[in-house]
Amino acid sequence: MSETWAKSVDLHLDLSGTRVRLRLETALRDAVRTGRLGPGTRLPSSRALAVDLGIARNTVAEVYSQLVAEGWLTARTGSGTSVAERRAAEPGPGPAARAEAAAPRYDLRPGVPDLSAFPDGAWLAAARKVLASAPRGLLGYPDPRGLPQLRTALAGYLARARGVAADPGHIVICAGFAHGLAVTCAALRSAGAATLAVEAYGHRAHRDLAQAQGLRLRPLPVDASGAVIGDADDADGAEGAEGADAALLTPAHQFPLGVTLHPRRRREAARWGGVVIEDDYDGEFRYDRQPVGALQALAPDRVIYAGTASKSLAPALRLGWLVVPPPLLDAIAAQLTAAPSGLDQLILAEFIDSGGYDRQIRRARLAYRRRRDRLTAALSRQGRHVTGIAAGLHALLELPGTGTEQDLVARAAEHGLALEGLDSFRAPGTRTGRAGLVIGYGRPAEHAYTTALARLCAVLDR
Ligand SMILES: Cc1ncc(COP(=O)(O)O)c(C=O)c1O
Repeated sequence: MSETWAKSVDLHLDLSGTRVRLRLETALRDAVRTGRLGPGTRLPSSRALAVDLGIARNTVAEVYSQLVAEGWLTARTGSGTSVAERRAAEPGPGPAARAEAAAPRYDLRPGVPDLSAFPDGAWLAAARKVLASAPRGLLGYPDPRGLPQLRTALAGYLARARGVAADPGHIVICAGFAHGLAVTCAALRSAGAATLAVEAYGHRAHRDLAQAQGLRLRPLPVDASGAVIGDADDADGAEGAEGADAALLTPAHQFPLGVTLHPRRRREAARWGGVVIEDDYDGEFRYDRQPVGALQALAPDRVIYAGTASKSLAPALRLGWLVVPPPLLDAIAAQLTAAPSGLDQLILAEFIDSGGYDRQIRRARLAYRRRRDRLTAALSRQGRHVTGIAAGLHALLELPGTGTEQDLVARAAEHGLALEGLDSFRAPGTRTGRAGLVIGYGRPAEHAYTTALARLCAVLDR
């Protein structure tokens, strides 16, 4: 007899040494006092606990009686011994509650879709099906490149919906785009790459990830036709891709300016000598015309196509995918130290195969298009014009000067509305000059959108 788990209460009791009765009494009292055993928790019968601990039943019975007498436990005939209900001290707010309290009431920053539109029921049905039918072996350690079921499902979906030249064997599953970018940059660096061209306006976290892997950044100008891959005129301090080993682009919907890469520029990018990382983060959400297909199809031997479930479903899934040119596959696979949850991969595969993913995209596309139309209508009533609206979940409202941008963001915050200025996306080293708000109309829940929009209009109106 030394230490054991008290049956059915998952309570570790250390009873080594002498004076067993005192030790048991102290251990149980401490467990109740510190909350390890919550009010109402049923304790094992004195007989079961005695057998479990290898001590006399009487010892356990005496300890129970003592703690009942002290008010820690209650004993009722027929229902055994339980932890007494006590008035607990009011707990302070936990970190999640504190973060929620600090969060703005309305949020029109880009980057996150409407989380309340997550297809709970359909996802649950897919999860149930997977759990009912998947061989238990699939619950072991997943292949670091991703489960074949998801890679096959994605190959079909990406070829059909995004025009990607996709072979399941060339797909790597990653924990969202950010992870995919980090492993790609690490692989490029280990293969000798030194410089990554990035769009002059882009996601700061992505630039940081590339730099953390030892890559130097070279900003590319972005104009009305998208990123300038070839000759740059150095108009805003950006240099062009000349001399870079690889380029990170958002061709379908430039983030955050919202332009689509012009067909001529697409051809230039496909002909360019370096590796292109195509971040197709919201390519499914195109509203007025047919979606622009993936750039990758023009040069599958040099373009790494990257997709994510963060906009189409939810960022919390941390599921993304890379379609990798075969010569780079081993280098990228060598950087994969852990795979995302195999269970979630199977669920997503089932969700795609059952048509649930397509249905979700169609539903979300309709809802986001309506929001975009409401945004453009509301702002045009004020004589304002947003751009970058053909696709995605954000639009750009250009402003006359950077000063206005900061004022507006600060004023909106006073009104419980979070906004993000264009300047926060500018790559270091590129000239300031453009100012604007990047309005993420996808983020609020449906019921909050009307108020968010009204506040935006009110803030702009002042
Ligand atoms: C430009 C861009 N790419 C990709 C993503 C998705 O990243 P992840 O898949 O890591 O959530 C985002 C999300 O905000 C984004 O803004």
